Amino acid sequence: MWLYVVASLLGLFLLRRWHRERQTVPRLSEKHVLITGCDSGFGSLLARQLDARGMRVLAACLTEAGAAQLRAATSDRLQTVLLDVTSSKSIADVTAWVRQRVGDQGTTGLTPLLSPSCHPIIPSFTLPICASRGEAGTGLWAGGAAPALPISFPGLWGLVNNAGISIPTAPNEWLSKEDFVKVLNVNLVGLVEVTLSLLPLLRRARGRVVNVASVMGRVSCFGGGYCISKFGVEAFSDSLRRELRPFGVRVSIIEPGGFQTGIIDPAPLVKGFVGLWERLPAEAQAAYGRHYVDKYAKTTTLLQRLSSSRLSHVTDAMTHALLSRCPRSRYAAGWDARLIFVPLSYCPAWLSDTIIGLFLPIPASGIP
Ligand SMILES: NC(=O)c1ccc[n+]([C@@H]2O[C@H](COP(=O)([O-])OP(=O)(O)OC[C@H]3O[C@@H](n4cnc5c(N)ncnc54)[C@H](OP(=O)(O)O)[C@@H]3O)[C@@H](O)[C@H]2O)c1
Repeated sequence: MWLYVVASLLGLFLLRRWHRERQTVPRLSEKHVLITGCDSGFGSLLARQLDARGMRVLAACLTEAGAAQLRAATSDRLQTVLLDVTSSKSIADVTAWVRQRVGDQGTTGLTPLLSPSCHPIIPSFTLPICASRGEAGTGLWAGGAAPALPISFPGLWGLVNNAGISIPTAPNEWLSKEDFVKVLNVNLVGLVEVTLSLLPLLRRARGRVVNVASVMGRVSCFGGGYCISKFGVEAFSDSLRRELRPFGVRVSIIEPGGFQTGIIDPAPLVKGFVGLWERLPAEAQAAYGRHYVDKYAKTTTLLQRLSSSRLSHVTDAMTHALLSRCPRSRYAAGWDARLIFVPLSYCPAWLSDTIIGLFLPIPASGIP
């Protein structure tokens, strides 16, 4: 009996969540979204996807070549800008550029509906009523008089912090402080600075922040700045989400598993850690042994081969975070993320160490 009750309640909960999550925010053609790291990979695909949906995409690229390639594949609506997230000047320039583009959007009309837990929505059938009366309609609002809110907020609707690098990646002992800083500057400090710089515009729009972390932000599988940076992105996003919720700004974290993009290309990764091994002192080289480098290289190549080529799993999650009336706080993207890494992140350390240890080489002077 109780089992049926619990199963029915769970079914109702899932049905309600599915129903709420499939509703999208209105007026996509008026909404601006800035995406960082659009030269390649997820950023480029997301820019093309949102452009195809009629949104106003502001695509930030690291290089002019990447920007030109994207412009050639998209409509005239999409605008590109050069952004290096490690440069405060570049971030300030892009913020001014974005302000020019979104700042002139006026505020019009009043919303008839505000869901207590989700973003304001405007059912299409109530729009003419609002426009002609100039007051809040009754529509679907169930909680008495609906609060009067502007239909179209000026500002930036979405920020997708996507830019990232993974090199240098290697066992921690092989790396210098500068090696860690190089990755942290792009993946974490850059992301924080871009967000802080654009927050006033996002707050005005009651918009969305979508931060690209990784399953490596849940389970730290290898040394170097990458996993640290992604744990940092998770922490930053969690506090930001709680702080911005009262302003109507929603913050989502994307946690992709392995996907075949430039960032996991084994050739530069292997070249990178072979170079790092060669600069090690003789004592450390002897402690690890040359076979360590070879096994590390093989594992990197194997993981790339096992990774998915369906980048749309990630960009669909980003799109949902930007456009759903009820975005999620976290999106695990990819079968490996859902079936391996997220469950692994809840395991006790002895178990996750044993499982991850199976993929790590044993150093020459290590204990088997
Ligand atoms: N692919 C995966 O398996 C995976 C898994 C989990 C998380 N992620 C995350 O997904 C995000 C996108 O990566 P991706 O997989 O699409 O790889 P990607 O194709 O290498 O994309 C990364 C983008 O960031 C740009 N970039 C690098 N340094 C930058 C800087 N200083 N300022 C601005 N942009 C910069 C790159 O430009 P250039 O191309 O010109 O260098 C590139 O366009 C990253 O945050 C990554 O950590 C990827």
